[in-house]
Amino acid sequence: MDLLATPLRLSLRQKPIRMHSFKQLGDKFLEHFKQHRFPAQPSNLYEPATYFLGIGGKRIRPVLCLMGNELFGDINKDAYPAATAIELFHNFTLIHDDIMDKAAHRRGMETVHTKYGDNVALLSGDIMMIAAYDELSKVSPEQLQPLLAVFNKTAREVCEGQQMDMDFEKRQEVAMDEYLHMISLKTSVLLAASLMMGAMIGGASQGNCEHLYEFGRNLGIAFQVQDDYLDAFGDPGKFGKDVGGDIKQNKKTFLLIHALQSCSSAQREELDNLLQSNNTDKVEKMLRIYRDCNIDDWAKQLKDTYLEKAYHHLDKVAVVSARKKPLLELAAFLVQRDY
Ligand code: IPE
Ligand code: IPE
Ligand code: MG
Ligand code: MG
Ligand code: MG
Repeated sequence: MDLLATPLRLSLRQKPIRMHSFKQLGDKFLEHFKQHRFPAQPSNLYEPATYFLGIGGKRIRPVLCLMGNELFGDINKDAYPAATAIELFHNFTLIHDDIMDKAAHRRGMETVHTKYGDNVALLSGDIMMIAAYDELSKVSPEQLQPLLAVFNKTAREVCEGQQMDMDFEKRQEVAMDEYLHMISLKTSVLLAASLMMGAMIGGASQGNCEHLYEFGRNLGIAFQVQDDYLDAFGDPGKFGKDVGGDIKQNKKTFLLIHALQSCSSAQREELDNLLQSNNTDKVEKMLRIYRDCNIDDWAKQLKDTYLEKAYHHLDKVAVVSARKKPLLELAAFLVQRDY
């Protein structure tokens, strides 16, 4: 027997690693997602929900679920209902978030409460959350209990983060750590859970699940930092949301926290006055102070810090590095995006 040739023959027989890109997984997800339909009646309940799902979105979280799954082998069929549940849950949080944040536009379109009124928006948000649980219940029975536990913990944390975000609007000052904790809850845990639920369905070990979760959590912090940056400096035509919304709502974003920490005493007085004001020049004046405080450099530093933490955890996930390529590409996109 030719022993030397054996490893070569084995490696020739190994399946080449072919991973799907963000775009390909987005398309695969949409194939499944478009099968989800709300009933026609009562139309005042279901039409707004259908409208909101129809205006798009980047579909990052369901793709993260599929990527987390594909990291450990071919995509399992249970990954699709899980990804759908996650996207429905995300859309529910956005409908309610737009009421809380008094936001008129999203994805370049009118928000649900602007188009249909607050009461209708509340209820179509609720029905979307119920649809999310309905979808999740379609996974195989042996997967359901652990997935439900992660999903429920995450949903609770998102509510906690959203409440903290609103509480902070009323406070004069918020520490950077408090901000980071708040955005970790309102945003990052859902990105982290999306990856982990995909990995759990793929049969990943607990250690791999935990590292992937921490990759997503740290990446999610950098993602929300970029969201807060775009809310102040984004191109309104591309961003799809009304730029300056966070400033109008006195949101304690890293931009304001950094400005309060690094400004001169004259700027401090102006900032304190601006926080009390509702004048039409509030956004413009605030943006000028942010620029004067070198916010671009600080934003980059903050994103890099969390991106590095994220990469450290992805590195620890015990699969060959070729399998991690789509996740690395997605991470780079999420912190550079302009929409
Ligand atoms: C918006 O999330 C809410 C945040 C956590 C910043 P996305 O930017 O993923 O929203 P869509 O779904 O693509 O519109
Ligand atoms: C939203 O944060 C987080 C959730 C919806 C849970 P933001 O309020 O910053 O999100 P956008 O900017 O409205 O999308
Ligand atoms: Mg908002
Ligand atoms: Mg909000
Ligand atoms: Mg925002």
